[in-house]
Amino acid sequence: MPGPADRSIRATPVTTATAAAAGEALPAETLPVEKLTTETKAFRLLLASSNAGKLREYRVLAGEQPSAVSLTLELFPDFAGRPSFEETAPTFAENAAGKALHYSRFTSLPVMADDSGLVVTALGGAPGVYSARYAGPGATDAQRIAKLTEKLQDEMRRAGRSSAALDRSARFVCAIALAVHGRVAAVLSDSVSGELLDRPRGNAGFGYDPVFWFPPLGKTFAEMSEEEKNLYSHRGKAFRKMLEFLASSPVL
Ligand code: IMP
Repeated sequence: MPGPADRSIRATPVTTATAAAAGEALPAETLPVEKLTTETKAFRLLLASSNAGKLREYRVLAGEQPSAVSLTLELFPDFAGRPSFEETAPTFAENAAGKALHYSRFTSLPVMADDSGLVVTALGGAPGVYSARYAGPGATDAQRIAKLTEKLQDEMRRAGRSSAALDRSARFVCAIALAVHGRVAAVLSDSVSGELLDRPRGNAGFGYDPVFWFPPLGKTFAEMSEEEKNLYSHRGKAFRKMLEFLASSPVL
């Protein structure tokens, strides 16, 4: 697969207000931006993660289409050796911003960090920011799904509802933050809505994908191709907003 450095990707400019919703604009000279042409900007970003799968997913997203942004994305060097950041905030945006800010203190390059999870209406928003830890440390995806199904059954009994009357709506949320030199430049969030199934379907994807039914395609996220998931997923949508921010930011 060609790396993002080899490709150009197109992003449609959006307003600064949208892009920098949760961040303070940075002075132009603080971001290492190289103008390739009048239309293309090149960025080198460090991803605050040690997860090679996550890096691969973002690289695929960055290389999807022609763009005004040429992005080189790398894992943060020696991520595990740095003081860690505890994701204890109550919102995805705060966790992403805090993580980006924290790791930006160890480098002069811009740092990208994310936080994501599943928000279930009938469970008052749970598991939310606890999605990864929902069934305790070291639990498998199957154990997290089993716990989710159990909680929905409990809720159904508690509310005296039938399975058909249960509110099965849920959404995946993703927040992506950019920070440089100890300052947050932007926080971009997006979500995708769906419905929870009682039984898993499909073998693709990860996490809660097999029980997340996406009505517009009539499939779970675990039954989608990579291209379909990238098009509709919370992560794909939030990442494209980040590309738009990079393409259109007046401070760059
Ligand atoms: P994090 O953003 O890497 O901390 O991941 C949070 C957790 O949310 C993951 O471990 C999954 O359990 C869940 N999650 C986030 N995004 C997805 C997705 O696209 N599909 C399925 N589960 C997800």
